[in-house]
Amino acid sequence: MSYFQQMKEKAIKLREKEEIYILALESSCDETSAAVVKNGREVKSNIIASQIETHQIYGGVVPEIASRKHVEAVNEVIRRALEEADITKDRLDAIAVTYGPGLVGALLVGVSVAKGLAFGLSVPLIGVHHIEGHISANYIQHSGLEPPFVCLIVSGGHTQIIHVSDYGRYELFGQTMDDAAGEAFDKVARVLGLGYPGGPAVERTATQGNPNAVSFPRVKLKDKPYDFSFSGLKTAVINYLHNLEQKGESYSTADVAASFQQAVIDVLVEKTINCARMLNQKRIAMAGGVAANSSLKKHMEEEAAKFDIQLYYPSPVLCTDNAAMIASAGYYRLLQGKVSPLSLNAVPYLSLTGDRE
Ligand code: KG4
Ligand code: ZN
Repeated sequence: MSYFQQMKEKAIKLREKEEIYILALESSCDETSAAVVKNGREVKSNIIASQIETHQIYGGVVPEIASRKHVEAVNEVIRRALEEADITKDRLDAIAVTYGPGLVGALLVGVSVAKGLAFGLSVPLIGVHHIEGHISANYIQHSGLEPPFVCLIVSGGHTQIIHVSDYGRYELFGQTMDDAAGEAFDKVARVLGLGYPGGPAVERTATQGNPNAVSFPRVKLKDKPYDFSFSGLKTAVINYLHNLEQKGESYSTADVAASFQQAVIDVLVEKTINCARMLNQKRIAMAGGVAANSSLKKHMEEEAAKFDIQLYYPSPVLCTDNAAMIASAGYYRLLQGKVSPLSLNAVPYLSLTGDRE
């Protein structure tokens, strides 16, 4: 029997085990994270080493620097994750790791270390799609949440409406045609001089502003009721600022931030609710960094309540990149026998649902 076959058999046998411990690694962008999670939902540790300060002076993530920082941090992050979970390596049942999408050099650090660990411990290796991890953060936060539900994914690289019909089964209903929601936050923060990462900075500034001060566009796409486009909104913000600057007039950064944020929220809320209603789905979950935005949560909650829809979202630390969410997704893959071979590679562009068009 091949080594891979042995690991598959091991995974199947694990289903009978009462307590399954997974160590997961996440290194797709600018956070090096390791976590130990029991039975897919009980977080024993979730250590996150952020590189934000390093990248701040460049105004965004520098891929080469990100890879080097992951190499420097990964061993210590794993050591701390095991220490905090109060567990030794020999009790681990599987190793899960993000293998895409993301920065290839950054992903490779997690993937290489995970392979070494899995082989060394002779336990199954589970490659996890980063977005499946973000969705699974909801399973950690809400112990009773099970599919099916509609999920709005709003991260720095993705904006999608997905129907989660079962564990590991995803149907794509909407996606962005251009910029992701988080990307729009980051770009607008940049032109407003609010720094990186933009989302939290825009949110903070927006609390002092009037969301109705400037009327920015809410893009509707013909025949694509659940798709998004944010690049026009970003251009509208830039044009608005340039116009005033050329005339020598001043503007309120807080009003622009609040009006921009409201424009993003309005389309995210409307399309997600419409999709859930069309599917007759009474549960909506949110995932990804932008789901940490308080104003988005408030507006989505208010609108969902009107249609008797229950809203779920993870706590802020589980919204942004972390390894606990990867462990949770890995657990459900493991139960389905979806073990990865040791030839697993980092895949910078990776689709969760298959390409729609
Ligand atoms: O999910 P995530 O941590 O990484 C990716 O997979 O991309 O998301 C990061 C994105 C960034 O664009 C960041 O600006 C945005 O999430 N973000 C926010 C907030 N916190 C993070 N956007 C709006 N409001 C926030 N509070
Ligand atoms: Zn992410």
